Amino acid sequence: MKLFDVYPINPINIVKGRGSLVYDDKGTEYLDLYGGHAVISIGHTHPHYVKRLEDQLHQIGFYSNSIEIPLQKQLADKLGRISGKEDYQLFLCNSGAEANENALKLASFYNGKKKVIAFKGSFHGRTSLAVAVTDNPKIVAPVNETDNVIFLPWCDEQALTQAFVDNKDISSVIIEGIQGVGGIQVASESFLQKIRLLCDQNNAVFIADSVQCGYGRTGKFFSHDFAGVNADIYTMAKGMGNGFPVGGIIISPKILPAYGMLGTTFGGNHLACAAGLAVLEIMEQDNLMQNAAEVGGYLISELKKLKEVKEVRGRGLMIGIELPAELADVRKELLFTHHIFTGEAKPNVVRLLPALNLTKAHADRFLETFSSILNKQQTVIPQGL
Ligand SMILES: Cc1ncc(COP(=O)(O)O)c(C=O)c1O
Repeated sequence: MKLFDVYPINPINIVKGRGSLVYDDKGTEYLDLYGGHAVISIGHTHPHYVKRLEDQLHQIGFYSNSIEIPLQKQLADKLGRISGKEDYQLFLCNSGAEANENALKLASFYNGKKKVIAFKGSFHGRTSLAVAVTDNPKIVAPVNETDNVIFLPWCDEQALTQAFVDNKDISSVIIEGIQGVGGIQVASESFLQKIRLLCDQNNAVFIADSVQCGYGRTGKFFSHDFAGVNADIYTMAKGMGNGFPVGGIIISPKILPAYGMLGTTFGGNHLACAAGLAVLEIMEQDNLMQNAAEVGGYLISELKKLKEVKEVRGRGLMIGIELPAELADVRKELLFTHHIFTGEAKPNVVRLLPALNLTKAHADRFLETFSSILNKQQTVIPQGL
């Protein structure tokens, strides 16, 4: 059987990982500043994580949500404490799209309304409603098309206010605190505050998609926290399980549960909870949010000094480096010549999404390599191009 060919693939077979380093089948070492797409939060094969999963596997790996799973309660308690949202309620699922799907559905159950406001440049996943609120018509199949979604310009307070005037059926507003796929665009604090205000005035639900920008990556648990207002639902996945598929939503106490409202077979299973707990234990024990703020802040300020770079955006260890078009090949050179993984966003943004325990030494290794490539490319590009 062939694989269904949907990914452009780099010809590299990674067989081992330790912290922020990964190794291919020929023993070549790579510095991982991509974190497998913001997933690796505490580093590859962290010993505590491996042990906790191994121990759990020897006990029990899975049983369904029809029985008590005390690990879920432990995860909820720890997550509530570390995120500062202790009065919220946790629902566990398996991926980011599923988290957003559940959040949008729950919002509509809550207020009985139908329309969703989403923003230009957004990415919220590939399942039916998640893809319908994603601003990329190429990945929306006809069956996913709906009139229930209103796309507004990014951070346009006037357009947002007007949308609420024009529409009395707005159920929710969904927004990434920092757009990831959209090119590392940071939502302004005043815009997030405006969403809070308008949702309160119109009985709409504020959904903070924190799948990529959350879980401590920016130095705060949720990047939306910088605005000093709470969302009603936060959606999470990626870093939550450090590679084990764990997703979840946390829900404001004002939204009350009812049996059957949401459900899942795999979500919150024993192994997933063990992975989720191991991540939070390491984040807390090793102060990883502080490290993300410090090493990320250092990277951002050093990158801003490079004159070849058009713009540096982001917070903590969620960084976008916008390059001019003539430097489009820098990512390839980083990977194939210098063995450094980075992410990309179209048209020409290098995305850094490393583990939250990235060391300053690894940050320096990247900075030295990156500036040497930019210097070299500058000298070979004829003036005027
Ligand atoms: C902001 C955001 N939301 C949702 C998703 C979807 O997550 P998943 O691929 O786990 O379904 C992603 C994935 O990249 C994302 O970046």
